[in-house]
Amino acid sequence: MPSDLAEFVRGLPKAELHLHLEGTLEPELKFRLARRNGIELPEHTVEEVRQTYDFHDLTSFLQVYYPAMRVLQQAPDFHDLAYEYLRRAHAQGVRHVEMFFDPQAHTGRGVPFGTVIGGYRSAIVRARREFGISAELILCFLRDYSAEYAMATLLEALPYRDWIIGVGLDSDERGNPPSKFAAVFDRARREGFLLTMHCDIDQQNSVEHIRQALEDIGVDRLDHGTNIVEDDRLVELAESRGVAFTCCPVSNSFVTTQMKAAEITGLLERGLLVTVNSDDPAYFGAYAADNYLALAEHAGLTTDRLAELARNSFRASWITETRRDGYLAEIDAYVAGTARIDSVPG
Ligand code: HPA
Ligand code: ZN
Repeated sequence: MPSDLAEFVRGLPKAELHLHLEGTLEPELKFRLARRNGIELPEHTVEEVRQTYDFHDLTSFLQVYYPAMRVLQQAPDFHDLAYEYLRRAHAQGVRHVEMFFDPQAHTGRGVPFGTVIGGYRSAIVRARREFGISAELILCFLRDYSAEYAMATLLEALPYRDWIIGVGLDSDERGNPPSKFAAVFDRARREGFLLTMHCDIDQQNSVEHIRQALEDIGVDRLDHGTNIVEDDRLVELAESRGVAFTCCPVSNSFVTTQMKAAEITGLLERGLLVTVNSDDPAYFGAYAADNYLALAEHAGLTTDRLAELARNSFRASWITETRRDGYLAEIDAYVAGTARIDSVPG
């Protein structure tokens, strides 16, 4: 019964580990911020904005994603973006979130780094107080820009290091392998940041990029990364190191032809630390619980499997062991109080 399953999934305590703050810009907020900043938008209704969401791959998504950000100009704009997301995440049973932000998408158009991170940080503090949700920031470098610009951004971030838990790598992967940023990630690790990195779905050289991320960079997590199923040796390496995968089924169905449910559930069955996340929920129309439900309905997952995905989200998160054990106990209590509901493959 999908509606009961929806309720189960919404109530399931979970962490979200693959979420781009700039990907949470809903059309309504975009209009509000455009008005606030005196910006004329080409679209005039929410429907017109959604009509531009005609994605068939990562590149066509990014062509819509970056121009939309120009409505973000002052610290209160960044605050409102993060606060609205945290409110929605809380309503979907998310207890803890580690959120990507793309400072270069803002500093590159003249918005100071401090304005961006100051706005985000004040929303995190407010949401913690109002909803009890905890949140951390992961600084992502844009991989289609130079390694020198990434290094300069890392240095610009150092005064704010207490507000940033880790660094990541996103944007257009074509021709921009992990190795391009080896020195930046090495410096970031030495500065005390945890490391993650996008290895997007079905890219040119996906498997080689995953190999570089695991062997040459030594990432703690991989964002997407499900093309690893093509190489058993790398699967074994990821398993032996406890490297987590932050999968985003609904996003996958927008930037490729499928959710990649077989790859995601296959890795889960092999015992890898697979998690489910929303990526850019305003653009793909699905927040965290919606992604669990979509995968469950598509792959016929039971509540046991969904609970395992939620446990993995805390195991893969960068919280303390004490907090992690607390969340795992909450999941056990939640599952014990809920009858088993089997999903119907869709
Ligand atoms: N991949 C690469 N860059 C991105 C993504 C993604 O999933 N979302 C936002 N920027
Ligand atoms: Zn992403």
